Amino acid sequence: MNLRTVPSVAVKIDLIDIINTFKAYNKNIYYVFKENLKSYFNYDKCIIFPKARLGLTNLLKVLSINSLRDEVVIPAYTCPTVLYSVVYSGLKPIFVDIDLDDFNISFEKTIEIVNSNTLAVVAVNMFGKRAKIEILKNYLKQRGIFLIEDAAQSAGKMNNNENADFLLLSFGRAKNFSAIEGGAVLSSNRKIMSLLNNNLNNYSKITINRKLLLILKLFIYPFAVNPYIYNIIKRIPHKENIIDIINSCSGFNFSLIQSALGNVLLSKLDELNKIRIRNAIKIYDFLKNNKNYYLQSPINNVYLRFALVCKQINKNGFLIEKLNKFGINATTANFPVLSNLYIKNNIRKFPNSIFVSSNILTLPTHSYLKNEDIKKIKYVLCISK
Ligand SMILES: Cc1ncc(COP(=O)(O)O)c(C=O)c1O
Repeated sequence: MNLRTVPSVAVKIDLIDIINTFKAYNKNIYYVFKENLKSYFNYDKCIIFPKARLGLTNLLKVLSINSLRDEVVIPAYTCPTVLYSVVYSGLKPIFVDIDLDDFNISFEKTIEIVNSNTLAVVAVNMFGKRAKIEILKNYLKQRGIFLIEDAAQSAGKMNNNENADFLLLSFGRAKNFSAIEGGAVLSSNRKIMSLLNNNLNNYSKITINRKLLLILKLFIYPFAVNPYIYNIIKRIPHKENIIDIINSCSGFNFSLIQSALGNVLLSKLDELNKIRIRNAIKIYDFLKNNKNYYLQSPINNVYLRFALVCKQINKNGFLIEKLNKFGINATTANFPVLSNLYIKNNIRKFPNSIFVSSNILTLPTHSYLKNEDIKKIKYVLCISK
């Protein structure tokens, strides 16, 4: 029996980070965190929301004011909250298939679909790999279409610093860095950002219970992702159901304790990502010439997870089971083909999204992954039959 299981995603929070969070806690920390986000991600304005999905919903609502355009293009394969944000904003989602070289929205298929009704394109950076932001930006700008880069899964420095019109970040637990929960929209478009700021009044004031819960989570989280403790926790049955996602479309204002933690972990983000990239490159090196898998390239990739798609149908379930037996929490990441959730739009087909959604497997890359775990991954993916 395994004594440890490496969780699929984790942000390593050390005791010193908790101490620093309490040290940084003061009434200005919310503004300090915003300033640091702006300077790290190189945008002029930043608005923090209770969750990234709420940031996206509100942003889309604001963009649609005074516009006759009502369509938002999104990848057919990504996190379902992106679809719900579009639906809750009252706009119409238009799905586009993904590419097999990065598992992100296809540029060629995006330009086939955008038209004078397209308000915005949401390009999601899946698993840490940046979408083709530069070419999308040039093309969309000429047509008056906003480009929103969803970096919920890819917070970090990229080689290419071309900014989209808007950047979406998530500070959820399973992201590159965390503030327990929360999200932000960044942009240099002052007019839209000032309208967006007015929407912050919609959320509940932080209560004492909420504060205590956040502090409790802050203390529990570092233990929960520790492979020895996670090995026990993962046996407790739980399922995330879709209703939770919908219900969580309301929320509390972002608190000072979250700002303090977010700020501490933002200052460690490069270090955390460096470890993720180092681990991922070790896996990439032994898989890059393997004809059995599609991989994302390491360029502009901060590897929240190492994602690979098995060319052999239904092989991923077998590999996931085997990796789990070795104490590596490999998963499919559970992202469905979104057009299947949105019934009105299931006429067009998205072959790459269907293929990736059914045959993907994702591996941990974070600081708890050791060289001995990488050897086990190599054994399961390359050697064992
Ligand atoms: C690509 C993407 N966008 C948006 C979100 C929503 O983030 P949040 O949970 O902060 O609302 C997620 C969350 O998992 C995500 O993966």
